Amino acid sequence: MTSFDPKAKSTTENGAPRESDRFSLSISHDGPLLLHDIALVEKLARFDRERIPERSPHAKGSGAFGELEVTEDVSQYTKADLFQKGRKTPMLARFSTVAGELGSPDTWRDVRGFALKFYTQEGNYDITGNNTPVFFLRDPMKFPDFIHSQKRLPDSGLRSATMQWDFWTLMPESAHQVAYLMGPRGLPKTWRHMNGYGSHTYMWVNESGEKFWVRYHFHTQQGVEYLSNEEAERIAGEDADAHRRDLFEAIESGDHPKWDVHVQVMPYEDAKTYRFNPFDLTKTISKKDYPLIKVGHFTLNRNPKNHFAEIEQAAFSPSNLVPGIGLSPDKMLLGRSFSYPDAQRNRLGTNFNQLPVNAPIVPTNSYDKEGAMQFHHSGDAPVYSPNSFGRAYQEGEVVSETGWEADGEMIRAAYTLHAEDDDFTQPGILVREVFSEEEREGLIETVAGGVADIPEPVLSRVFEYWKNIDQEVGERIEAKVKGA
Ligand code: HEM
Repeated sequence: MTSFDPKAKSTTENGAPRESDRFSLSISHDGPLLLHDIALVEKLARFDRERIPERSPHAKGSGAFGELEVTEDVSQYTKADLFQKGRKTPMLARFSTVAGELGSPDTWRDVRGFALKFYTQEGNYDITGNNTPVFFLRDPMKFPDFIHSQKRLPDSGLRSATMQWDFWTLMPESAHQVAYLMGPRGLPKTWRHMNGYGSHTYMWVNESGEKFWVRYHFHTQQGVEYLSNEEAERIAGEDADAHRRDLFEAIESGDHPKWDVHVQVMPYEDAKTYRFNPFDLTKTISKKDYPLIKVGHFTLNRNPKNHFAEIEQAAFSPSNLVPGIGLSPDKMLLGRSFSYPDAQRNRLGTNFNQLPVNAPIVPTNSYDKEGAMQFHHSGDAPVYSPNSFGRAYQEGEVVSETGWEADGEMIRAAYTLHAEDDDFTQPGILVREVFSEEEREGLIETVAGGVADIPEPVLSRVFEYWKNIDQEVGERIEAKVKGA
C-alpha cells in the first residue's frame, strides 16, 4: 500500500512499466497471441486467483472502523487497559448474516454477527458476538452439524426448511435462540439499528487478581428498529446489499453510529450456585440479578478504503484476549477459541495476523516463524527459546491469571444442571412477557409460513417444540398451518 501511487505509470507486478493496459501481444494485427506476453499472462493469472474462500459461516457482511471510549471506572472488575476510564481505543466492527453466502441478501431472516476488534496497547482484543444474547447450542461438537442444516442440501444445493426444523426440533436447547430468530430480531432494519452481545460469559480480572464473570451488552443509540417480513422480502429483491449500503453511506455522510457498552458482572463464587448455569450459552443471566453496569460507548466513524483488504481479510476470534480478560468454562467459547484462528489459517493463510487490518498496534515477539507470505520476521535473532543470545523469553511456572479450578473424570456429557435450568423456561418468558402481542403474532405468521410445506415427522415435532415453549403459541402455529 505504501508504494502505491495512482499517478505513476502503470506497471507489471515486478514494478516495471507496462507497454499497454489495453492490448495483448499478437503477431501483427490479426495474428495469434504469444505466451511470453508477461503482462497478459500475469493479469489473467492474478484474475483467476482473485477470490479467496468465503467465511464458512457469516460470509456476507461489512464493517467500519471507529473508537471505543471508556467513560466509567470499572477498574474494580478488570485491569484490562482498554477498559480503563478515559481510554480511547481504535477498533473495527464487522456485521454479517450467518447462513447466507457472499452475495446473499442482507435482509434474509437470520441472526446477525456483531464482531468487534479493539487494537489495544496490550494486543488485539476481539468480541466476536451476535445481535442476540444467546445461541442455538451448548456444545461445540454440534456447531458444524448446525451450520450444515442452515446452509444447503447436498443434492439440489437448495436451502431447506425441513433440514433446519429437523435439526432444531431434535436439539431442544436451540429453542431460546430460535424464539429470538423468529421474532423481530431476525429482521433488523439496518445494522445501525440493532443491539449487540458478547453472548458468552467471559472472565475479568482486576489488579489484585480478583476474578469476575461478565457478559457484554452493546445498545444502539440509533434506536432498535425492525423490518416486517414483507419489507424484508421487498428489500432483498430491490437491493441485496441494503445493510452494507446503509452503513457505508451513513458514515460517508458524517452520520456516525454509536453503541453504549454495558456489562453484567457476576462475582466469581456466584457462578456455582446461580439459578441458571452462567456458562450455558442458551441462557441469559437475569438483569434483575445482575444489573447492567455502564462502561462507555463506541462510535464507527471511518469506512474501509478497500473492502477486500480491510473487511474480507479481517480475522476476528474469541482467542484474541488481553491481560485482565479471559475465557470461561463455556464449552462453546472454548471450542471457538480453536476454530477461528484455524479457519483463518485456511481462509487467509498462515500469516494472516501480519495483514495490516489484523496486525496489533504493539510490537510482537513470537517464536512462530516462516510459512507462506511471511513478511514480518525476527531478523537474525535466535529462533528458539531458551537462548543465550539476548532474545526475550518467559520461563517459570505460573498459575494462570484467568484460570479456574477443574477436576474429575474425563466424560462426554451435558453440563450439570443448575436449579432452574431447562430448555423451554427462558424462551417461554421471551415470547410471553418480552414480545408484544403484535410481535407474537408476527412470530406465529413467520413460523407457520416457514413450516407449511415440511413433511412428517418433522412438522408434528415443530408443533410440539413450540407448545413446549408456550402452549398457546404452539396451538396457534398448528392451527394456522392446518388452516383452522
Ligand atoms: C464466524 C466457528 C459459534 C459469531 C465464524 C467462523 C468460524 C466460526 C469458523 C469463520 C471465521 C473466519 O473465517 O474468519 C464457530 C464455532 C462455534 C461458533 C465452531 C461454536 C462452537 C459462534 C457464536 C457466535 C459466533 C456463539 C456469537 C456469539 C460469529 C461471528 C462470525 C463468526 C460474528 C463472523 C466474524 C467476522 O465478522 O469475521 N464462526 N462459531 N459464532 N462467528 Fe462463529
